[in-house]
Amino acid sequence: MINIKLIDKLFENQMLSQSEFETLINNRNEETSDYLFKKAREVRENHYGKSVYLRGLIEFSNYCKNDCLYCGIRRSNKNADRYRLSQEQIMECCEIGYKLGFRTFVLQSGEDPYYTDDMLCQIISEIRKNYSDCAITLSIGEKPKASYKRYKNAGADRYLLRHETASSEHYSKLHPNTLTLEARKKCIYDLKELGFQVGTGFMVGSPFQTTSNLVEDLMFLKELEPQMIGIGPFIPHRDTPFAKKIGGTCELTLFMLGLIRLILPKVLLPSTTALGTIDPRGREKGIMAGGNVVMPNLSPVDVRKKYLLYDNKICMGDEAAECRVCLQKRIESIGYEIEETRGDALK
Ligand code: 5AD
Ligand code: FES
Repeated sequence: MINIKLIDKLFENQMLSQSEFETLINNRNEETSDYLFKKAREVRENHYGKSVYLRGLIEFSNYCKNDCLYCGIRRSNKNADRYRLSQEQIMECCEIGYKLGFRTFVLQSGEDPYYTDDMLCQIISEIRKNYSDCAITLSIGEKPKASYKRYKNAGADRYLLRHETASSEHYSKLHPNTLTLEARKKCIYDLKELGFQVGTGFMVGSPFQTTSNLVEDLMFLKELEPQMIGIGPFIPHRDTPFAKKIGGTCELTLFMLGLIRLILPKVLLPSTTALGTIDPRGREKGIMAGGNVVMPNLSPVDVRKKYLLYDNKICMGDEAAECRVCLQKRIESIGYEIEETRGDALK
């Protein structure tokens, strides 16, 4: 009963305290989850109706200079088969994507210094020139503010950089000591100041994560008010130090998605590939819990198997067109529809 009251409070746009959130998360059950999802859908439909937005993900390099303990493309993973796409190959992905109705391209890579700011700006301006009606999103990690500014001037609109966890102590257990939460947050605030539409987020069930950490994530998100929030379950990768750690659950990820929809009603909330990986209907369930974005892969099929952040990733052999059709069917099977627009966040 107390939990239903807390959900109602969130629904009425009142924030909860740290301990109220902890109570809600720790005592969740099927009944409270169903109620939360119902309220989350109501909020989402008030703002976005039944529309689900598409983002075409182009994974253009799996080289990475960092060594995050959870990530399959970390520098130390000698088993990763490294690749880089040329500007021409990236443009081909956009061309295929545009024909399939994509109006957002997400350029994602490890932190790969091979691509200089000049090269990146050339790629961005080329996409901007050819696809004036599309949004360009970057997801290429931590950079100096001056670099972010150059990308913005070249035509990039959005930037994804997950905070991973809002607790510095927890952050230091997931990353080598060359990476800090402070530096990560500085980048996120730099991006915001430069006028990017910012996406951040975290993994659910990452090693050493506590309920209190999850609530800290929610508090950070409320304060930052990003336009987009990407969350997905942690999934162990066999060639990382976290190979033997337990992964996050679909159930808790869905609960967090529902909470985020109530805390930030207008946020863009993807139902992630990681969620679809641990549950065959994970992406549909994510939409039913308040999500309104899907991010299928536009990378060429021959490099897909190489961009493995975690084990058993789905869609490895599927052409972009197959994923497009597959997702459309999945979205329609639950009464929602894909909208072929840029899908910008509401103000
Ligand atoms: N399991 C789930 N998500 C992961 N990411 C990286 N490694 C994993 C993993 N093993 C997520 C991180 C990163 C995003 C691109 O992918 O949150 O920010
Ligand atoms: Fe890729 Fe279903 S989304 S095959």
